[in-house]
Amino acid sequence: MSHIPVLLNEVIEYLDPKPGDNFVDATVGDGGHAKEILKRTAPDGKLLGIDKDLNSIKIAEENLKEFKDRFFIAHGNFLDIKKIAADNPQIGKISGVLADLGLSSRQIEESGRGFSFQRDEPLIMSMVWPLAEGRKIALQIVNEASARELEKIFKEYGEERLARPIADRIVREREAKRIERTFELADIAVSAYKKFFGNKTWRIHPATKIFMALRISVNEELSDLENFLPDALSVLAEKGRLGVISFHSLEDRIVKNFFRKESHGCICDKNQVECVCDHMRSLKIITKRPAVASADEMKKNPRSRSAKLRVAEKLSALSDY
Ligand SMILES: C[S@@+](CC[C@H](N)C(=O)[O-])C[C@H]1O[C@@H](n2cnc3c(N)ncnc32)[C@H](O)[C@@H]1O
Repeated sequence: MSHIPVLLNEVIEYLDPKPGDNFVDATVGDGGHAKEILKRTAPDGKLLGIDKDLNSIKIAEENLKEFKDRFFIAHGNFLDIKKIAADNPQIGKISGVLADLGLSSRQIEESGRGFSFQRDEPLIMSMVWPLAEGRKIALQIVNEASARELEKIFKEYGEERLARPIADRIVREREAKRIERTFELADIAVSAYKKFFGNKTWRIHPATKIFMALRISVNEELSDLENFLPDALSVLAEKGRLGVISFHSLEDRIVKNFFRKESHGCICDKNQVECVCDHMRSLKIITKRPAVASADEMKKNPRSRSAKLRVAEKLSALSDY
């Protein structure tokens, strides 16, 4: 299944790509946003696409082959954006950086890596592909973390109210048999919910939040985002724009707080009489409130329901890139 880019009109409106502009798409995926940006930056604007999944890279290359003279690609993590941009000097002055966080529909439906509890697949959940040595995958966390560690992951990253009973149940079940597949894990969440709430029907499936939590943990999504934002800002040229599409409140909070902090000069404590922080304002917030999908887009693409786009503009050339 091909991925439908979310908030495409809003990305174009707020990042405002113009002929000759150069962009970095830090999560190029299937290349949906990148394609529209490349069309608008013709005839000579360049785009550097980054993705940590080699399968996404291959699909983007195929989907964007008509732009092969202006489209460059890097297989890596967006938190290395400074190095990746420096390794690709042909990209020139960067007018915009986009990050469309999380997974593509294709990864969920076709990767076979266990991102969805609706498919019986091995519990891998890594977006990094091929798998990198030394990185934990979901089944290691599920089978090796202590009950309290699992509870913390489910609570912090999933905001799961049954974090403790589900974690305890996992630990009990794995004593009899290792939990290796998505359906096994989903069944544990369902039985924990049934014990607490009886046999009612759920607004969202009982496994939704623990799957999200494990995916965030396996992929270190929140710390990667925190590290990415200042570096993305630093590679931008003056008046360049940074846009981030997030899909859950934990990500959106990180983006919102970063934009808020960087849009202020002094960030000293209110009780401080004189400024001691030397913090300088480095961006202007363009989307006072995040852009969200129209009713029409939500109907056509349910994935867009939770999407939020925040955009900021770099104020001065403080760049150390
Ligand atoms: C939602 S999809 C992007 C879809 C894309 N905008 C499009 O229109 O086709 C997110 C992509 O970002 C990649 N990704 C997620 N986190 C990443 C990271 N930290 N570094 C690099 N790529 C990442 C995923 O592998 C996935 O291919």
